[in-house]
Amino acid sequence: MKKNIFLLAFVFSSLFSFGQWTQSLSYYANKCKIKIGSAVGGPYFTNYDTRTTFDMIVKNNFNMLVAENDMKYNAMEPTKGSFFFTTADKLVTNAYNDGMTVRGHTLCWHSQLPSWVNAGLTNGIANGVFTRATLMAVLKNHITTIMTHYKGLVPQWDVLNEPFSDSNGALRNSIWQQVIGNDYIDSVFVWAHRADPAAKLYLNDYSVERMGSTKGDAMFNYIKGMVDRNIPITGAGFQCHFGMPVDSTAMDKNINRYAAIGLEVVFTEIDVRILITDYDKNKAAQLALQADNYRKLIHLCLENPNCKTFITWGFTDLYSWIPSSMAGYDHALLFDKNLAPKPAYFTILNELALESQKTAVEDVKDDDILKIQKSDERIVVLSANIMSRCQVYDLQGKCIFTSDINRNEIEIPTNNFRKGIYILKVQLENGKVLMKKF
Ligand code: G3I
Repeated sequence: MKKNIFLLAFVFSSLFSFGQWTQSLSYYANKCKIKIGSAVGGPYFTNYDTRTTFDMIVKNNFNMLVAENDMKYNAMEPTKGSFFFTTADKLVTNAYNDGMTVRGHTLCWHSQLPSWVNAGLTNGIANGVFTRATLMAVLKNHITTIMTHYKGLVPQWDVLNEPFSDSNGALRNSIWQQVIGNDYIDSVFVWAHRADPAAKLYLNDYSVERMGSTKGDAMFNYIKGMVDRNIPITGAGFQCHFGMPVDSTAMDKNINRYAAIGLEVVFTEIDVRILITDYDKNKAAQLALQADNYRKLIHLCLENPNCKTFITWGFTDLYSWIPSSMAGYDHALLFDKNLAPKPAYFTILNELALESQKTAVEDVKDDDILKIQKSDERIVVLSANIMSRCQVYDLQGKCIFTSDINRNEIEIPTNNFRKGIYILKVQLENGKVLMKKF
């Protein structure tokens, strides 16, 4: 009891006075228009109403939650045609009461399937229990029922999880792939879109974060094919289960190539694990290194307009899948086993807070304030107010054009621009900053 009171007092005082910052993560993330979230499992559901330290951390730091296990196939449809919504509903209701949204995870996966679906495989090989037609009907019903139940309430869905094999990036030999065929992938997205046309739909996988990696390139090429086939997909989920160092340069390149085909990237299951032997030798150094790796990840979200969701797979090292599944590793999350915030937490807080304090900018619509007239060779920017500076950035945040002016109109030659999306940033004489994508 004494220990609990101490912990609670610590969390309250620390949550509201983190160094120079007076607020916790989601306060600044909201200002930066970033979804910052955590997966939550059993302890969340058992403790929620008691408002323990655990719950206060969730409530004060995140604006998006994900069910670690409770929206998976075996949890939602344990018996054929009979759906269990109670636990997942609790998450959705609680999240909304606390001003958060929910990511759905996951509608189609090869793992955590109920035994009645797994009955279709014997020793990993399709055994004829299902035909293509019967399994399609089963999967369509699963997706349609769940997405209809949560229509308008769950804005993001991992429609498909981990469809790529680890060895060569080919499609994984799942029951879905074996019995239905490769086109199950297009179908699951179409069914999901029909059930909730407003929901954002993602293909989520691990070891796909780096451009130039076998699986990362396989996933990008596959998704590009889906876009070419007009399949309704919003983007790629990068799970981000990382050891150190995180290769943020290759990730940045990957995020940019998704931007170039009009897609988002979301970080869906972040954790940055530490080798226990290194941790035991020099805890402070390892935690500082980990914080720096988390800093690189939050920067990718701050700097890339198509990457605005940052979810960690749990938030406390007290409850993390890492030690039981990755022998020799631990300490991967933002809070330690006593629920105290770690250096990685303060680093992310600092980066978000600093970003939120930069000059407020407005993304303007085509109206009288700022107009862009485009042709093949140039764009002409017309402003109702005098512009003092006009700049163009690419999606990597690199400034590729800058001009200090004192006029209402400027012509920018674009013959050296590659095809893609750019950001126009205009500073007005009155100090206001306007931004616009073109
Ligand atoms: O609920 C049962 C409990 O009744 C039983 O007593 C106990 C005995 O083992 O098992 C409990 O179920 C476990 C479940 O987590 C809930 O704790 C399962 O055994 C265990 O396999 C399951 O692990 C989950 C794992 O997915 C399954 O593949 C992890 O919690 C979850 O963090 C992990 O999440 C995945 C993502 O969905 C996809 N990406 C990778 C990520 C990490 O593996």
